[in-house]
Amino acid sequence: MDTPSNIKVHDKYFQPFISKEHIENIIRKMVEEISKDHALEKPLFIAVLNGAFIFASDFFKQLKFDCEISFIKTKSYDGMTSSGDVLQVIGLEENITNRTVIILEDIIDTGLTIKQLLNTLQKQKPATLKIATLLLKPEAIQHQFPIDYIGLEIPTKFVVGYGLDYDGLGRNYPEIYQLVEEV
Ligand code: IMP
Repeated sequence: MDTPSNIKVHDKYFQPFISKEHIENIIRKMVEEISKDHALEKPLFIAVLNGAFIFASDFFKQLKFDCEISFIKTKSYDGMTSSGDVLQVIGLEENITNRTVIILEDIIDTGLTIKQLLNTLQKQKPATLKIATLLLKPEAIQHQFPIDYIGLEIPTKFVVGYGLDYDGLGRNYPEIYQLVEEV
């Protein structure tokens, strides 16, 4: 099997970090856990675009019970620093009142995006509102809220691939790469 080598995205180099097989295992565990907790509730999954689209797709097609999926778009990073505010571009059409709702996010960094999304969605009084994130940077978190399902905790270093981008590029790689720090 080919070993992935470093990649260049814009002006930065990234090294292989989480393999396809590892990602598959992480998602399988998340599917098992969420199925155990919510299979009987016809949950609505809300995937946060753009970054979560590949994760959401791989996750969703493994579910073996009645469920729905919808997509929300929020404005995210300009390059590698948080822009500070989050804008909902594509709104939610489903009525989530009294429903089990699980947000699918690719990565939680400072937590601002999800915190604002939780605040917005809570207003519609869902029966249950949970978060499932593929990746979490625990040392970067600045906003406190429960994170119900975590695929993998990673260090506070920028990553690309598997839907995650650096200034628009890098989403297409099937594995996850980590920034190579310049010395
Ligand atoms: P937060 O609001 O700081 O938690 O950032 C969440 C969003 O920032 C994610 O949905 C990503 O779009 C983006 N983001 C945070 N860290 C990374 C990273 O390491 N690579 C790519 N995108 C990231």
